[in-house]
Amino acid sequence: MSNGQHSEKKLVVVTGASSGIGKELALSLQQYGYTVLATVRTTKDQQALEKLGMPSLILELADEHSVTLAIKAIHQHCGNQLYALINNAAYGQPGAVEDISRSALEQQFAVNLFGTHQLTTGLLPLLRQDGGGRIVNISSVLGLVAFPWQGAYNASKYALEGLTDTLRLELHDSAVRVSLIEPGPIRSQFRHNALQAFNNDIDWQQSSHRHQYQKITGYYSASDHPTPFTGTPHDVVKRVLHQLRSPRPQPRYFVTLPTYILATCRRLLPARLLDALLRKLGAMR
Ligand SMILES: NC(=O)c1ccc[n+]([C@@H]2O[C@H](COP(=O)([O-])OP(=O)(O)OC[C@H]3O[C@@H](n4cnc5c(N)ncnc54)[C@H](OP(=O)(O)O)[C@@H]3O)[C@@H](O)[C@H]2O)c1
Repeated sequence: MSNGQHSEKKLVVVTGASSGIGKELALSLQQYGYTVLATVRTTKDQQALEKLGMPSLILELADEHSVTLAIKAIHQHCGNQLYALINNAAYGQPGAVEDISRSALEQQFAVNLFGTHQLTTGLLPLLRQDGGGRIVNISSVLGLVAFPWQGAYNASKYALEGLTDTLRLELHDSAVRVSLIEPGPIRSQFRHNALQAFNNDIDWQQSSHRHQYQKITGYYSASDHPTPFTGTPHDVVKRVLHQLRSPRPQPRYFVTLPTYILATCRRLLPARLLDALLRKLGAMR
């Protein structure tokens, strides 16, 4: 199947394109012949993308009004037809469950779930009109298994999995196809941004988990030292391309070996054994 045949003039919206997976997705899909509209949060990032020939608009997922404005702008830009929405933008809020404040948890859900849901429902009429629209939600291996110190992020991605699975069932009789992408560790700004969220929101000196936190902050600071299993944003692009091109996209796409291994463990191991494994992996961080 040639790229041109499938991607010609097809319009794709990619959220969170200032860095990491979203930036790679936006630029690569443009190279594969799609017309891409990216979203970022600052005019500085807009200008950076403009220099690369990538049109963009401002979207702050935590702000309902910003999402409403972005939906309107996309409707105007698209002229009533949108092929695909790639919900990539998100962040991780690390911290033990008992140290996460209500407001930090609400913020995590505002970005990773509520904003994503609002954008998706606002763009569904356009996706339906395409006669074969696609929704791709970037989840995580942490949408499949829990890790210690990741409760807020885990919960937001589990919720995204649930909402996406339901949406796929509900849209079965339409032409819109819905999939989840499940990356393991990928080289990006994710850990750097998570460390910032940790420093902003966790009062770690007062925590009974403060000794573990020294390890965790070390892990997040070491984002330039990937593990042998760390993948690249392009590994995600390959799965997204399959979703966009296939007449029958898969409900879930795994990316990186850790996702395959942990998803298999979740299916096969009794809960206590899985817990022991996840505790061990969490302690290694
Ligand atoms: N990297 C990994 O190891 C990994 C593993 C599994 C899943 N994922 C998932 O992959 C996706 C992309 O993450 P990444 O690894 O590429 O991380 P990243 O480099 O930190 O990129 C995240 C993107 O989301 C945007 N974003 C964050 N908060 C936002 C908000 N409130 N409103 C709108 N946009 C916002 C960021 O914008 P700013 O630059 O303005 O903050 C950035 O463009 C996420 O859904 C993440 O959960 C990543």
